[in-house]
Amino acid sequence: MRMILYTGKGGVGKTSVTAATAIRLAEMGYRTLAMSVDPAHSLADSFDLDRSLMDHGEGRPVSVRENLDLQEILIHAEVERHWSVVYGYIAKLLKTSGVDGVAAEELAIFPGMEEICGLLYINQYLQEETYDVVLLDCAPTGESLRFVSIPTTLDWYMAKVFKMERRLASIARPVIKKVSSLPIPEDNYFSNIEYLFDRLQGIDAALRDSSITTVRLVTNPEKMVLKETQRAFMYFCLYGLTIDGVVINRILPPEIQGEFMESWRSLQQGYLQDIESFFSGVPIWRIPLFQGEVVGESSLKRLADALYGDSDPSERHAEEAPIRFEKVDETTHLYMRLPFVKAEEIELSAFTDELVVQIGNFKRHVSLPRSLAGRKPSGAKRKGDLLDIAFD
Ligand SMILES: Nc1ncnc2c1ncn2[C@@H]1O[C@H](COP(=O)(O)OP(=O)(O)O)[C@@H](O)[C@H]1O
Ligand SMILES: [Mg+2]
Repeated sequence: MRMILYTGKGGVGKTSVTAATAIRLAEMGYRTLAMSVDPAHSLADSFDLDRSLMDHGEGRPVSVRENLDLQEILIHAEVERHWSVVYGYIAKLLKTSGVDGVAAEELAIFPGMEEICGLLYINQYLQEETYDVVLLDCAPTGESLRFVSIPTTLDWYMAKVFKMERRLASIARPVIKKVSSLPIPEDNYFSNIEYLFDRLQGIDAALRDSSITTVRLVTNPEKMVLKETQRAFMYFCLYGLTIDGVVINRILPPEIQGEFMESWRSLQQGYLQDIESFFSGVPIWRIPLFQGEVVGESSLKRLADALYGDSDPSERHAEEAPIRFEKVDETTHLYMRLPFVKAEEIELSAFTDELVVQIGNFKRHVSLPRSLAGRKPSGAKRKGDLLDIAFD
């Protein structure tokens, strides 16, 4: 199975590009799924489909034409399917803490649940080989990063915190019950989490395997959008995902004339050049601004033509993983590709079996191979886009 994530700032054209790509792939004969993991679902709207069609699916895949299914994750339905015990506990905890009923029920849907549900489905499709290509219409950058970082965070949580919490809860439960009304989770809360975690096994490796998963950043030739694209590029590298394309959408076509448009065009020209130099080595695709909005099959097909010509959208355009270990003589190097970030913004902490790399609010736990366990890095330096961490 091939998996392609389309992400970028709000409004740049992620959904339109995903939908256009999905139609093209389905026409080429690939069994295709386009899945929306943006809570503000608009995939079905992009295809100009009747809402009731998706509502009937209750968050499961809906067939919309030959070889093409659409899926929009519905968190409330997923909570009933997978999270009832965890959700029940958190809602009870919030209610005990004085949050009123309805608010407690809404708040108990914690950030990340939606993403985990998406990942659960994807892992199932991977294992059952349901589709040839899964396209993900992601939420704006920040949430998409959460989506790809969840598996490592969960691994870390399960390895370091979960067992201790479970044991503590079993010790504390009888004591706390006597002195306080604060609910301590019952053991089925922990088994619910364990069950979900088991069903996510393997997804982390699949996300980082560039023969399966690549990310395409959708952008516009505008200053603020471009800034966010650079940051997104760096953060996806931090999480070890391979970016194999930058899609520049809404480029003003030459036939639009007039002084007003000329000033826009010269602005865009500047940013187009910036994009070429910032992302050199990464394939760049271009889409013009269309005369009307891109909704429905015929305009999506036009977008796919502009984007792919005769090429196959599922083809991979990059192979090198952004994180790799390499042994030179007696020294092992961990190379991390981290462009667009200053050395002083990178914070490193070394532990026995892992290295934690923090940039801004995002943290990556990099597990160290057994041969490096217990060894502290002897130095870290920047080489162009690479961060080189040496273990002597
Ligand atoms: N190249 C384009 N030309 C004209 N309109 C476009 C183009 N790309 C996207 N649109 C329109 O812009 C709006 C936002 O696009 P959308 O794909 O929903 O963005 P996102 O998913 O990134 O928020 C939609 O109304 C879409 O029809
Ligand atoms: Mg969208």
